[in-house]
Amino acid sequence: MGTVVLGTGSCLPKRVVTNEEMESVVDTSDEWIRTRTGIETRRYGGKGELNYQMASAAAGRALDAAKVLPEELGLIIVATVSPHMVMPSTACFVQAEIGAKNAFAYDVNAACSGFLYGLDLADKYIQSNPALKVLVIGAETLSTRTDFSDRNTCILFGDGAGAAVLGTGDAGGILATNMQADGRLWELLHMHGPESANPDLRVDSSGPFIRMEGKEVFKYAVKSMEGSINAVLATQQMSIDDIDLLVPHQANVRILNNLKKRLGIAEEKVFINLPKYGNTSAASIPIALDEAHQQGKIKKGNKILLCSFGGGFTWGAVLLIW
Ligand code: ACO
Repeated sequence: MGTVVLGTGSCLPKRVVTNEEMESVVDTSDEWIRTRTGIETRRYGGKGELNYQMASAAAGRALDAAKVLPEELGLIIVATVSPHMVMPSTACFVQAEIGAKNAFAYDVNAACSGFLYGLDLADKYIQSNPALKVLVIGAETLSTRTDFSDRNTCILFGDGAGAAVLGTGDAGGILATNMQADGRLWELLHMHGPESANPDLRVDSSGPFIRMEGKEVFKYAVKSMEGSINAVLATQQMSIDDIDLLVPHQANVRILNNLKKRLGIAEEKVFINLPKYGNTSAASIPIALDEAHQQGKIKKGNKILLCSFGGGFTWGAVLLIW
């Protein structure tokens, strides 16, 4: 018996923002964005597409796919760095929206690694209570946290939500997880919150927007994800050749190309939807997982590898049998 994915779902905002549109916002070009990042379009939320609303829509689809009723859920975890409010958690808004009256609920902040941290938590809860059904969501409205005068960052990010329902299964499931962090490097990728009301506790802030040292992030992202992947494979005496599909955090196509090369994994075994959605932080892996499944690229019994890297720094990998 293991912790299995019972169903997945996702929700993307309707508004598609092209690179040409970004050209009217900052001094950039479609050619620069495509060649440096691989991104062609991203989605921005509009009315009715608040963080918790997209999260709830994705959750509804995941519950339908899992054939699980909202009241059967015992726990809801939402991974996000762009929550609907600081308090209460976005998970509580989702709990109310979908009517999961028997679930306790909280948010996880591990930036782009949030969904994997959430899966790791869900696995531990389910191991100690096999009857539990857990909804893990990654949801972001990064367009609310983007500095549209900073061309280094504003072209990268997008909005969206993805969800997975987890429970106990007879076969397969999560085989190994590897979660890591290095808080000493926080400055390389960060986002300040609202200004302090207490002047004595005010910190120097560059505004409530995403700030990033792109080159440094690039370097750490590739090495760290490679390390976590090798760590989870080693626990099962597996090699990268045993994997049917790698679903990585969709940050940047050059990061992914570097990672592919270092791992020696075949092109067709890496799922990439980054060109359509840009970097949706905690939402990127569950959206990709849902799309890969819908496209028939994930089948029962497949060995699936998930990996991520994000602000904190945080990073990790999850190895599972579907
Ligand atoms: N359009 C045009 N020119 C730009 C843009 C833009 N949007 N952004 C930066 N430039 C310019 C820079 O100002 C610089 O100009 P200069 O030489 O006159 O100073 C030039 O392009 C080159 O800048 P670099 O920083 O050297 O560009 P680089 O080739 O490193 O690409 C990038 C930048 C894409 C951010 C890269 O560093 C990268 O991929 N980093 C990884 C970071 C990432 O993907 N983060 C996502 C969040 S973290 C995560 O999810 C894992």
